[in-house]
Amino acid sequence: MLVASNRGPVTFVRAEDGGLVPRRGGGGLVSGLSAVAGATGALWVCAALGDADREASRSVPGGRLAPHDVDRHLGEPVGAGHAVVRMLDIDALTFHRAYDAVANSTLWFVHHLLWSTAFTPVFGAPFTREWEGYVAYNRTFAEAVAEDAAPGAKVLVQDYHLSLVPGMLRDLRPDLRTAHFSHTPWAPPDYYALLPARVARSLLEGLLGADHAGFLSVRWARAFLDCAERVLGARVDRAALTVEHAGRTTRLGVHPLGVDGAELRERAARPDVEARRAALAEDLRGRRTVVRVDRTELSKNIVRGLLAFRELLRGHPEHVGEVVHVAFAYPSRAELPEYREYTAAVLRVAEEINDEFGTDDWQPVVLQVEDDYARSLAAYRLADVLLVNPVRDGMNLVAKEGPVLAEDGCALVLSTEAGAAEELGGDALLVNPYDVGETADALHRALTMPPEERRSRCRRLAAAATAVPPERWFAAQVDALG
Ligand code: F6P
Repeated sequence: MLVASNRGPVTFVRAEDGGLVPRRGGGGLVSGLSAVAGATGALWVCAALGDADREASRSVPGGRLAPHDVDRHLGEPVGAGHAVVRMLDIDALTFHRAYDAVANSTLWFVHHLLWSTAFTPVFGAPFTREWEGYVAYNRTFAEAVAEDAAPGAKVLVQDYHLSLVPGMLRDLRPDLRTAHFSHTPWAPPDYYALLPARVARSLLEGLLGADHAGFLSVRWARAFLDCAERVLGARVDRAALTVEHAGRTTRLGVHPLGVDGAELRERAARPDVEARRAALAEDLRGRRTVVRVDRTELSKNIVRGLLAFRELLRGHPEHVGEVVHVAFAYPSRAELPEYREYTAAVLRVAEEINDEFGTDDWQPVVLQVEDDYARSLAAYRLADVLLVNPVRDGMNLVAKEGPVLAEDGCALVLSTEAGAAEELGGDALLVNPYDVGETADALHRALTMPPEERRSRCRRLAAAATAVPPERWFAAQVDALG
């Protein structure tokens, strides 16, 4: 079995003395896959993400980190200890074109409906070159998989970075059984069809090279069917979730990803989290909390979340001085100007709220942009309310992690546009992510909910969140290949 994804379970940074320091790969996809892919002993093909990764991959034969290398390199266990990790040494320009320009600007923004607000695409000659980079990057992955896969092996290709790989593998190695999994939403056809025609077709055809295409929610699978029908003229069966195109049939599957409750609780009880929890509790001095945890990512809708908190304080003076909005964010994709500007806007609005309401002994918004997972777990533990309001999100694991860890039960204010709303909608307070007023009202309701109701809702949220842990989600993808 092989797994292919842009990010792998391990990445390297350069220490001050010039040495290479290993880190756990970031993001929801890696957390979902690490333990299970590791346990199956899969070969995990990923990109070297920078100079430190490139140097690390060159230091081992064929760029393959064997299990003992992974162990040796890792300061903290990532649970990927049985996987062989093959890091692809892709030149920096090709990587930039594929990852920054095509995947994270164009495709990310189209699937999250962020065009025109943050990004105004111009598909001219520069984009053609970027697209060629995306094709070359996908080809490097496909060739690496084709080289390493045993006859008839199963290949699990992950996400929008690698949409062309299944089609390329079908040409290179028709004996392989390939699944693709989308961790993002899928754009509706009116939006998707604004991509240049050859790009829109290639992405769909590439993905339809797979035997099985997985999505996190039924909404995203249906949108994919709609696009295949509209753009390719493919024959789709909405009830059976199949697409027939160019003489082949691809089956679609809906596999929601949840969290491993036991593992998460164990991680959240370690000393680094305990220390951060104690420090945060001391700062809060018994005040109630509205917690959010995100990457500094446009789709996460942090600015509107802050505006909703401001409306809450303006409309309900009883919360002034009594509630702290703890907003912890991980820096993300800072190479892209849209992300840098967004992060600046988040910081600006937080500061405005603190200027408007803050006093000598109360800071209404505690916002930190830092790569600190233990800090996020500490915040979940102390959450009274968890705010998850993305404008659109494939799943959103924060909505699932928080209720598992909240010590006294948290109320969840959740966007209808997160994939997680399909499973958690019954016990969350659902909001339209654009409706700041409605979000403020939901925050008020969450803060004033009777404690017993909050705890019992939270117990049910935690049960739903842990119903499909990563092992089962992974097994569903493998089983779908027969
Ligand atoms: O599908 C979403 C995803 O790829 C997740 O793995 C993760 O949450 C995020 O995007 C990571 O983005 P990046 O790898 O660009 O930092």
